This record gives sequence, C-alpha cells and structure tokens, in this order.
Amino acid sequence: MLLIKLPFLNKKTADQTIKNELKQDNLPKHVAIIMDGNGRWAKKRGLPRFAGHKQGMDNVKNIVRVANKNKIQILTLYAFSTENWKRPKSEVDYLMKLPMEFLNTYLPELIEENVRIQTIGDFNELPQHTRKAVEEAVDKTSSNNGLILNIALNYGSRYEIIQAIKRVATDVSSNNIAIEDIDDDLFGEYLYTKHLQDPDLLIRTSGEQRLSNFLLWQSAYTEFWFTDAFWPDFDEILFEKALNDYQNRKRRYGGI
Ligand code: IPE
Ligand code: IPE
Ligand code: MG
Repeated sequence: MLLIKLPFLNKKTADQTIKNELKQDNLPKHVAIIMDGNGRWAKKRGLPRFAGHKQGMDNVKNIVRVANKNKIQILTLYAFSTENWKRPKSEVDYLMKLPMEFLNTYLPELIEENVRIQTIGDFNELPQHTRKAVEEAVDKTSSNNGLILNIALNYGSRYEIIQAIKRVATDVSSNNIAIEDIDDDLFGEYLYTKHLQDPDLLIRTSGEQRLSNFLLWQSAYTEFWFTDAFWPDFDEILFEKALNDYQNRKRRYGGI
C-alpha cells in the first residue's frame, strides 16, 4: 500500500528535498533580480500588459517572504530601467503607479516583517506621487534591521557610472581626492550602491539572458541564474532552486 505513488505527494517531497539541501552557511547575502516577462505572461493569457504588471507586483511580496525565510540580507529588484521610458505613455503611467499601490497594500506587512526599504536609481525624473510613496516607505522602515528590500527604480548602470565619473572628476579638480586615490573601493563610494555589498547571485526571469543595463559595475563577480519562467510565475520552488544551484557554484574570483 505504501508504494502507491500520488503525484501531489511527489511534488511536496521534491520541495522538501531542496529545502533540506540548502546549507545555512553558504546562502547568498545579496540577491538581485531582473523581474522580466510580465507582458508575455499577460499576453499568453489574452490579457492586457498591465494585468501582467499587476500580477508581477503581487509576486514581489511572495518573493520577499521567501527571501526573508532564507535569511537573505539584501534583495535588489529591478522595477524600472532608464530605458523603460521608451514604452507607451499609458504603460509608463501604469508602472509609475505600482510602487504606491504596492506600498499601500503591503507596507504594514513589510514593517511587521522588519523589512527595510531602500532604493537605487535617479528619483529626479519620477512623478511626484511615485517619489513620495517610495520616500515615505524608506523613511518609515529606516530603523528596521531585517531584510533590505532595495528597489531599482529609474535605474540604469551607465547613467550611474557616468554620474559617478563626473563627481570623481569634480572632487579631483577641487583637490578633495587625488587621482592616485581612485581604486575599486573609492569608485564604489560614488555609486548608488555605496552602502551595499555586491550581489552574490543575480536572477533573470523570462528566458532573456542579458543585463539590460543592471548593476554592470557591481556584478563583476556575481553568479548568474536564468529561468524561462515569467516573473509572475517565479515562485518559492524556483527561487530555492536558484539558491540551491548557487550553493553548488565555485566562486574563484580569478584565483584557482
Ligand atoms: C518586466 O516585464 C517589467 C518591466 C520591465 C517594468 P516586461 O514588461 O518587460 O515584460 P515583457 O518582457 O514585455 O514580457
Ligand atoms: C529589464 O527588462 C528592466 C526591468 C525588468 C525593470 P526589459 O524588458 O526592459 O529589458 P529588455 O528591453 O528586454 O532588454
Ligand atoms: Mg521585458
């Protein structure tokens, strides 16, 4: 009787195996995710693109929970790139409403879970309502010391690096720093991510395998993990599969 195979039990056993296999001492501290594929998720269902963005927004909360459960310290999520302004205005407007909607719905829970919200990106170009909602959330969670949920909003690495170069040049010409002082660490201080360690693991959903201007400097030695799943379908099982695969990588940093 014990040999009867029930498919739903098999699935549970597989999940359990991954959980058991995750070693507590070798988890990535900083995970960055390119949340891609909302539009295709919607199209596959005959829905408008914004329905995919809405579903994707709700999935952020699920993934934050899984990150918390696995004691990830920093979760950086690519929410809007400096290139995404090229999209139709109606889609951009919708995307700009999502941070406010996300925070209206989930901020109390995030506060309860001790999550600290931070951001990277250029906030000057954002609509006032988007900016205000996010800045309030950063403020309200600033004394939390759990998971850092770092939202990349109007973020682009090339812009970040060029801004950094301009400020380094200004500091050199005003004698605040000497040219000889410029090294990896000093340059890193001029980036949006100055207070964060580099990502250990970068995940991209939707089958695309490119960075799309995300964390170019910071991902010099990051491990990459790709899945064909669209962002709204990226779930606990896939996330833990990525963590498990990460634990089997050999990070050499140029050594042997
Ligand atoms: C990711 O999904 C969300 C953003 C870029 C804001 P997409 O909107 O890029 O979805 P696809 O890639 O068109 O399917
Ligand atoms: C990257 O996705 C940006 C975000 C997920 C926010 P895109 O959909 O904009 O990237 P490309 O255009 O396919 O490279
Ligand atoms: Mg896309």
